[in-house]
Amino acid sequence: MAKKGRVFSGARPTGRQHLGNYLGAVKNYVALQADYDCIYCVVDLHALTTLETTRDLKNNTYEMALDWLAAGIDPSQTIVFVQSHVPQVTELFTILSMVSPLGKLTDLPTFKDKVRENPNNVNLGLVGYPVLMAADIVLYKADWVPVGIDQQPHIEFTRETVRSFNYRYNCSVLKEPGMKVTEVPKVIGTDGQQKMSKSLNNQIELALTAEETQKVVMTMVTDPARIRRTDPGNPDVCNVFSMHKVFSSPEEIAMVNIECRRAGIGCVDCKKLLARNMNTHLAPLRERRAELAKRPDDIWDTLKDGANRARAIAEQTMSEVRAAVGLP
Ligand code: TRP
Repeated sequence: MAKKGRVFSGARPTGRQHLGNYLGAVKNYVALQADYDCIYCVVDLHALTTLETTRDLKNNTYEMALDWLAAGIDPSQTIVFVQSHVPQVTELFTILSMVSPLGKLTDLPTFKDKVRENPNNVNLGLVGYPVLMAADIVLYKADWVPVGIDQQPHIEFTRETVRSFNYRYNCSVLKEPGMKVTEVPKVIGTDGQQKMSKSLNNQIELALTAEETQKVVMTMVTDPARIRRTDPGNPDVCNVFSMHKVFSSPEEIAMVNIECRRAGIGCVDCKKLLARNMNTHLAPLRERRAELAKRPDDIWDTLKDGANRARAIAEQTMSEVRAAVGLP
């Protein structure tokens, strides 16, 4: 069946994926394969902009790819690859740099955040991060980019860069991508407060065993106002309840919603139910993951094959770009 266009998305190699990554991105990546030609990229070069050490880069790339494939990203139809395996992106980055106003880059909220977080490591690569991202997207002439709303300034920047390039070189070689905002409930970590993230160590990894999942779920922070088992709770402010909404049946969600409010169910039982449902939901993924993990070389082969397919598209775009620019 003819697909509706090309999708490109990238994610930094953060290693084993957690529920936030899964519900926020990976699940959607998997779903998009039915209707679009998809290209998913592990953006290792982007990771270099903030990494203090590259010690875990290779392993994190592997673990992330493993989770993607286990989740159902299908390399027989989708291109899955590592950014640095297709170096054409760095050539396009250089060319796009010349049409990227510095003031615009330093004004981006994402850049300002990074400067605030790490004032001693404001490198050129960090300023150019959105240019590299634009290069990723336009190298493959993507029609759509599925990303979270936080990436909107980068997509807008990409669109402006395409217009600047095409105008400056009087051509229509590059394509303006559209943004597909991934609509997801904000996934809060086990602390019940902050967005789930590895750096905050409040994550629930997909690759945990059923027992480990249960253990972590039992540590989740619930409604802080509910101190004793006999206190009524408020599911509206409880992260365990938000997770029930994702993993439990409509009947169970309704039950928890009612029983928590009248102290009919305690947090311990509520969490046990959640852990059980999470485990049921993730069981097929975990089985596939365990199978795939038996042959690590096959994962790297899949990524190499993805890079070969990506490179063919990239080289085609670059020959058009070089000609449009007038490089001798
Ligand atoms: N900046 C994106 C993020 O932090 C990652 C990324 C890099 C990306 N290149 C991309 C996303 C290209 C979509 C398309 O999430």
